[in-house]
Amino acid sequence: MEQKKDIYLDYHATTPVLPEVLEAMSPYFCSHFGNANSTHQWGWKAEMALAKSSKQVAQLIQAKPSQVYFTSGATESLHWAIVGWTRKNRKGKILTTKAEHKATYGACDWAQDMGAEVKILDVDEFGRLSLDALEAELKEDRPTLLTFILGNNEIGTLNPIEEICELKKKYSHLSIHADAAQCVGKVAIDFSGWDLDYLCFSGHKMYAPKGIGVLVIKDKDSLTPLFFGGGQQRGMRAGTSDVPSIVALGVACQWASDNMNTEKNRLIKMRDGLINKLMSTDLVLLNGHPSERLPNNINVTFKKLTLDKLLLKLPKVGFSSSSACSSGSASLSHVLQAIGRSDQEARQSIRFGIGYGTTQEDLDYVGEKVLEALSEAQSFQS
Ligand SMILES: Cc1ncc(COP(=O)(O)O)c(C=O)c1O
Repeated sequence: MEQKKDIYLDYHATTPVLPEVLEAMSPYFCSHFGNANSTHQWGWKAEMALAKSSKQVAQLIQAKPSQVYFTSGATESLHWAIVGWTRKNRKGKILTTKAEHKATYGACDWAQDMGAEVKILDVDEFGRLSLDALEAELKEDRPTLLTFILGNNEIGTLNPIEEICELKKKYSHLSIHADAAQCVGKVAIDFSGWDLDYLCFSGHKMYAPKGIGVLVIKDKDSLTPLFFGGGQQRGMRAGTSDVPSIVALGVACQWASDNMNTEKNRLIKMRDGLINKLMSTDLVLLNGHPSERLPNNINVTFKKLTLDKLLLKLPKVGFSSSSACSSGSASLSHVLQAIGRSDQEARQSIRFGIGYGTTQEDLDYVGEKVLEALSEAQSFQS
C-alpha cells in the first residue's frame, strides 16, 4: 500500500481552521476593525459581531449568551475558574483528578498558594472519576469546587457528567467546572441542563484559530475576574476583545451545531474500525474506555513494539506519543500512569486524533502499517 499524501492524525493537539471560518473572520482585520468598546459605527459593528458570536457559542452548548465570556483559550479559562473561585472562597476546597490536563494542576497550585485545600482524586482503569471517592470528599459542609476533564485529551475517556452533576442536588456547597476543551463540537453539551457552574474550551480544538477560548459562567458573582482594566465583557474580563477570533469561534460553533451529529457518526465509525483492526492482534492494549470515549480518539499501548520502529513505518503521519501539551518534556504521561500503565507501557503508547480531514483511506493505510510493524517486531523477537 502506497502513501499518497501526508496524514495528520493529531486533532487533539490542534485542528486546521475551516475555510468558512477564515472567510467569516477576514473582514474584521481591515474593514470592520473597530474596538467593541467604542461608541461609534466601527465600535458598534464590532460589538454586534461579539453579540452574534456569543449566541452561536451559547446555542451549541445550551447556555445563555450572557453566560459566555471570551478568553485566550482553555488554559486561561481554567485559571480563571479555579483562581477566580478561590478568591471568593479563600477557605474552600478544590477537588480534581489524576487525569487532568496540566493547566489544571498549575491553576490548582496557585489556588493552594492562596489558601485553598487541593485534593487530587484517583481515577479508575479507564481514567474516570470515582463517584464514591468524590462523594466521600463532599461530606464536609464547606465550599467545594470540583474541576474535572470531561473528555480526556490523551485517552479519550468521557467522564459520567450527568451522575457527577446529580451530586449538586444533595450537596449544595458543591460547584462544578468541566474542562470541555476536547468535547465542544464533538459531543453534545448541555451546560444549563446539567446545572454546571463553569465550563471551558478552546477554539483551536474545533476548527477556529489558536488564541481564543471561552469560560461559560452560570453566575458571575460566584467568582472574581482574573484581569482588571477597561471593564470589557460586563466587567469580568478586561482587555480589548479579539474580534476576528471571536467571530471565527462563533462560526466554528455554528458549523458544529449544523454538522456535529453527522460528523460524530463518521468519526466513531472510523475510530472503531481502526481500534478493532489493531485489537485483532493480542499485541495491543486499548487505553481509555471502550465506548464512553471521544468520537475522535484512539490511544493504544503496544506490548512489544518500540516507537522508534513504528516511526520508521509512518514517517509522513502526524500522531502523538504523549499529550502534545507535554511533549518536549521527558516525563511520561501522568494519565497513562494514573490508569495503571507501567513506565515501559507508557513509553510504548500512541494517540491518534482524527477529524474533519481524515478519510477511511487514511486510516486503512495507517492500520496496515501498524500491523506490519507489529508483525515484524514479533517475528524478530520469536
Ligand atoms: C483537555 C484540555 N484542557 C486544556 C487544554 C489547554 O488548552 P489551550 O492550550 O488551548 O489553552 C488542552 C490543550 O490541549 C486540553 O486538551
